[in-house]
Amino acid sequence: MQISDISASTLTEKSYSRTDWQGGYKSLPQEQDYEIEDIEGLIPPELQGTLFRNGPGLLDVNGQQIHHPFDGDGMISHITFSNGRAHFRNRFVHTTGYLAEQKAGKILYRGVFGTQKPGGWLANIFDFKLKNIANTNVIYWGKKLLALWEAAEPHHLDPYTLETLGKEYFHGVLTEGEAFSAHPRIDPSSHQDGGAPCLVNFAIKPGISTTITIFELNPEGEVVRKHAHSVPGFCFIHDFVITPNYCIFFQNPVSFNPLPFALGMRSAGECIQVQANQPTRIIVIPRIPQPGQTGIKILETQSGFIFHHANAWEKDGEIVIDSICYASLPEVEPESDFRQVDFDAITPGQLWRFHLNLQNQTVQQELIVSRCCEFPTIHPDHVGRPYRYLYMGAAHAATGNAPLQAILKIDLESGEKQLWSAAPRGFVGEPIFVPRSGCTKEDDGWLLALVYDAAHHRSDVVILDASDFSKGAIARLHLQHHIPYGLHGSFTAEVFTTT
Ligand code: CO
Repeated sequence: MQISDISASTLTEKSYSRTDWQGGYKSLPQEQDYEIEDIEGLIPPELQGTLFRNGPGLLDVNGQQIHHPFDGDGMISHITFSNGRAHFRNRFVHTTGYLAEQKAGKILYRGVFGTQKPGGWLANIFDFKLKNIANTNVIYWGKKLLALWEAAEPHHLDPYTLETLGKEYFHGVLTEGEAFSAHPRIDPSSHQDGGAPCLVNFAIKPGISTTITIFELNPEGEVVRKHAHSVPGFCFIHDFVITPNYCIFFQNPVSFNPLPFALGMRSAGECIQVQANQPTRIIVIPRIPQPGQTGIKILETQSGFIFHHANAWEKDGEIVIDSICYASLPEVEPESDFRQVDFDAITPGQLWRFHLNLQNQTVQQELIVSRCCEFPTIHPDHVGRPYRYLYMGAAHAATGNAPLQAILKIDLESGEKQLWSAAPRGFVGEPIFVPRSGCTKEDDGWLLALVYDAAHHRSDVVILDASDFSKGAIARLHLQHHIPYGLHGSFTAEVFTTT
């Protein structure tokens, strides 16, 4: 595949200032509920439904800075679109940890990514009590809104008020504290269920060997299939991909040294080290295991580190996977401040394609997009199937590493790319593709993204026409405040408004 690159950046200097970027990492303690009135452009009247976003809402507890944004308390935002109007609401997930720390006015828990309780290692020694911060993703499935965090059970929320209703155990399928990842995939047409959609998710139980559990949920939100598999070695797995017949995991070459963690000197995230000389293992698990055999296949490749995959599909006996790969993983240093990150010293995420031949146990890989990119999104009907259009957050400049300021669309058949950029003062979060109802073309729909506008210290909800970026943003909804940089979210065609 030959893909020509977009014309070089028109800015010769950096496309951003770090001070501007840092503004998006301020806490938003206030909970809001209002009709969005300040709008440039027009919200398409056919855009009906609700965009849910999750991410750390607090980057400090009563002035005590947390060490890494992944340790920030989960805050849900929802934006409902109805008849050309939009309504905003945000609310913190009332986790046990959030409530206790807000009451105490200080950090009480150790974070996975380096937030220690004050008091040094004596206060942290043998404290394995981690906070389920419910900050990574939010999905609406089986008539339930669920806030997800990969190391523990989901929190169940009211989709209208965002009130926390409790933890979700799927009728006792999950046990207290059991993991349920933040990266479910929705199979749009599960052949085991007569073509009904199916939510596929996983859980990682780390150790010397790792247990990977697969869950499949029907549209009513009931777990209809669950099976567990043991694979050798420590796994740090954040995301996976599915096809109609397989779940595929990339076991990145990292090791975990638990001793500094147990001794209270370092957080769990700081005890993970990348083993640069080791291959990545690709773990392929059949979605329907055959009786008496696991059917797991493990292939090896060199891939660097992967947080997120774009998609996977089966073709001519191969599995093809598109993923965003980093040559190395920045380690979370104990004394560092994430706000002071040197973007130029970190390798960018880049889009790679992997071809897995299960018969020959071989893997071939090719670079598809070298521009720094993250947060891939596609048409939901193409999950696990061949697809043509991929959208991602991207850097403004074609080379180097930088914060995400743009949205990149790539036509994987022709190689054509389109870029919409919010540089120099805008910073882009995960885009979500929303198909137009009744659409037949794969890119007939919209991209929705939160963009932090440093010039006004507020966030915009930006709507792009996915079929034509040259129109620019067709609507920019100016919120009355900023939303701290978030992680993941989802869109549902249901409209949840209380007014
Ligand atoms: Co993620």
